[in-house]
Amino acid sequence: MDNFGHFDDTSREYVITRPDTPWPWINYMGTEDFFSLISNTAGGYCFYKDAKFRRILRYRYNGVPMDDGGRYYYIKDGSTVWSPGWKPCKTPLDSYECRHGMGYTRITGVKDGLKADVLFFVPIGHPCEVHRVRLTNAGPAPKHIQLYSFAEWCLWNASTDMENFQRNLSTGEVEVEGDVLYHKTEYRERRNHYAFFGVNRPFDGFDTDRETFIGLYNGFDAPQQVLAGTSGNSVAHGWSPVASHRLDVTLKPGEEKEFIFVLGYVENPADKKFVAPGVINKEPALGMMDAFASVAQVEAAFAELKTYWDGLLSRFCVQSSVPELDRTVNIWNQYQCMITFFFSRSASFFESGIGRGMGFRDSNQDLAGIVHLIPERARQRILDIAATQFPDGGCYHQYQPLTKRGNNDIGGGFNDDPLWLIFGTVAYIRETGDFGILQEPVPFDNKPGSEVSLLEHLKISFKHVTDNLGPHGLPLIGRADWNDCMNLNCFSDNPDESFQTTENKTEGSKAESLMIAGLFVAEGRDFAELLERISDKTAADVKAAVADMESAVKAHGWDGEWFLRAYDYFGNKIGSHECKEGKIFIESQGWCTMARIGAEEGLCDKALDSANKYLECEHGLVLNNPAYTKYYIDYGEISSYPEGYKENAGIFCHNNPWVIIGEAMAGRAEDAWRHYQKITPAFTKDQALRKVEPYVFCQMVAGKDAVKPGEGKNSWLTGTAAWTWKAVSEALLGIKPQFDGLLVEPCIPIGTYRIHRRFREAEYELVIHQTGKGGKVFIPYKPGKQELEINL
Ligand code: GLC
Ligand code: GLC
Repeated sequence: MDNFGHFDDTSREYVITRPDTPWPWINYMGTEDFFSLISNTAGGYCFYKDAKFRRILRYRYNGVPMDDGGRYYYIKDGSTVWSPGWKPCKTPLDSYECRHGMGYTRITGVKDGLKADVLFFVPIGHPCEVHRVRLTNAGPAPKHIQLYSFAEWCLWNASTDMENFQRNLSTGEVEVEGDVLYHKTEYRERRNHYAFFGVNRPFDGFDTDRETFIGLYNGFDAPQQVLAGTSGNSVAHGWSPVASHRLDVTLKPGEEKEFIFVLGYVENPADKKFVAPGVINKEPALGMMDAFASVAQVEAAFAELKTYWDGLLSRFCVQSSVPELDRTVNIWNQYQCMITFFFSRSASFFESGIGRGMGFRDSNQDLAGIVHLIPERARQRILDIAATQFPDGGCYHQYQPLTKRGNNDIGGGFNDDPLWLIFGTVAYIRETGDFGILQEPVPFDNKPGSEVSLLEHLKISFKHVTDNLGPHGLPLIGRADWNDCMNLNCFSDNPDESFQTTENKTEGSKAESLMIAGLFVAEGRDFAELLERISDKTAADVKAAVADMESAVKAHGWDGEWFLRAYDYFGNKIGSHECKEGKIFIESQGWCTMARIGAEEGLCDKALDSANKYLECEHGLVLNNPAYTKYYIDYGEISSYPEGYKENAGIFCHNNPWVIIGEAMAGRAEDAWRHYQKITPAFTKDQALRKVEPYVFCQMVAGKDAVKPGEGKNSWLTGTAAWTWKAVSEALLGIKPQFDGLLVEPCIPIGTYRIHRRFREAEYELVIHQTGKGGKVFIPYKPGKQELEINL
């Protein structure tokens, strides 16, 4: 079914053809510090660096109606008022189209012979959104219309903006000068930043006070000034500052006019804040307005953005007989990896931009999706993350992008966290060959003077596991492992506390994790190889610890048909056939098969068979089976979710690639490929059921025990992006970066395909013929172009 849109691969766009999508289908804009979320009806917001502390536009989550608030354009044409993106007016359009592209969105609406084509993008090198509004009169008669812009300012801190009204409603301040409306709340005191919204021609009216523009009891769909064709020329003092320009436009038949709006952010040095008492220094804003004063300038900036993405997306390309695979690999999966890298889990239409900063484990995993695209930024990220670690190897679960300081807002003491630093660093060095990063000095908890080398950080990360082993010689789980919701030491009976931050009774706990055990073995092997490369003598100890862990898993982690999931606080089994519910879990099947634990004895094949038998359903592999049907105080949040959702037997897409990779490592191509297709959105048949964007992975699809299996949620920001990238590029298509070259080892039942792969200073053109004999080929790294035909 193609109800709501389709892919346009040549222009790397997803084309939405109906505005009333089953959920707002969004896109992201921005590549550096200024970022925007934009829905297919132009809803959403932007921020500078940090979605919590530097929110520029106000946005109300989960509102009624859904997705209200954004950067809106209104057109008043006679007695008709409409918006190019349908919302907020919802006036029926004669035609509508939204094209979400790489870092830009273009929305076109047509009504009564007038076409409004609005291109939104965040240019490279400028902290702003540029909106090019192109109006074309396609009708036979002249048009006299009013064009209104609209944006509502957030008072910077997105959290207090929604809470502290006794203060907020008195602090709002603006300035109006020239063609620009400035938002300067709190600039008078400790802030040195303001925002602005300007247009490249003199306006005919403006408003900066929300009540004057909209009317107290009107909605965004019916601003009183627009209905009347007027502007209040209001200057906001407190209440809710907004920005709206009015342009009175006349268009002859066939005539086209373009207007450029710039919505930007400015930071001034402390000594250059004001030009006169209370009057802000507008120079940087005017500079930005000048940079986008003409259509030619906008086109050049837009072309630069296109070049940026073309450059990135030309580094890894596949050409196969499966279009869904090609568009996922060549366009959308890599794009999503970039977005997820920028935002971690902070701001989407499911993450409010307030609750979470950059996760320690999340950001490390995200690296796997972008090391081949932006290695220099990966390098910086690794150093930033490592700097939030504690001297004992433990870490803050997240840090704030603005300050790069760790915090405990969503808990701490997750015992898988440290290992992900090894994961991220190995991925980076394999891609780049930059062993030098290991010698970079990195502090603990950002304390100056505490620096040790990154290599030391990796060693203490590894040691954090061996320092925290439980009664079976398996890793103690701490607050939780990758599954944030398996809270084995928390015993919460108080609905008013968060599972993430409540007391964690690790003292005397016997709770051990098989997921961490598998992760430890897999990453430990990689780590040992890394240490050998740099002739570090501790490689042998690492190998010995890995071997011990393997034995412990075989002795205490095997349930007969699959790997156990964990031992609880009291030492009872979780994820065993002996359990009433939650007999089998995906995480340990994924990690222990990726680590190939007990492969010779047939354990991996058995575990994968069991995963397919009990976890697989039409839409992917569920996290656990059977789902928990009631709350278990011993297990915590996992059993708080209704059956089939989230960590309780949802298809938590992030961990499906673990099984896919496990399958591929076991040489089970058909199984790997089937699992991949099930979670990959380009293969989605029923867009309405899936609900969320058909061009990006989502964190969770409702599982077989849910009321509506197949319904997706939490799209965009998820480890699924990086992990499916790793699964498809390395395990399926078989292009595996090594410390000294590329290993080609495919496992995908699609016959012949071509790969273009940029690797460091080398460029490989590979034609891979899968003839059925299997095996692998190693291509040692050598700068320059190489064309190879490979028969496997
Ligand atoms: C969320 C978190 C991630 C966690 C996962 C499973 O996606 O961002 O850190 O591993 O849920 O609980
Ligand atoms: C909740 C979510 C989980 C997420 C965690 C941290 O527990 O279910 O997916 O990782 O919150 O915010």
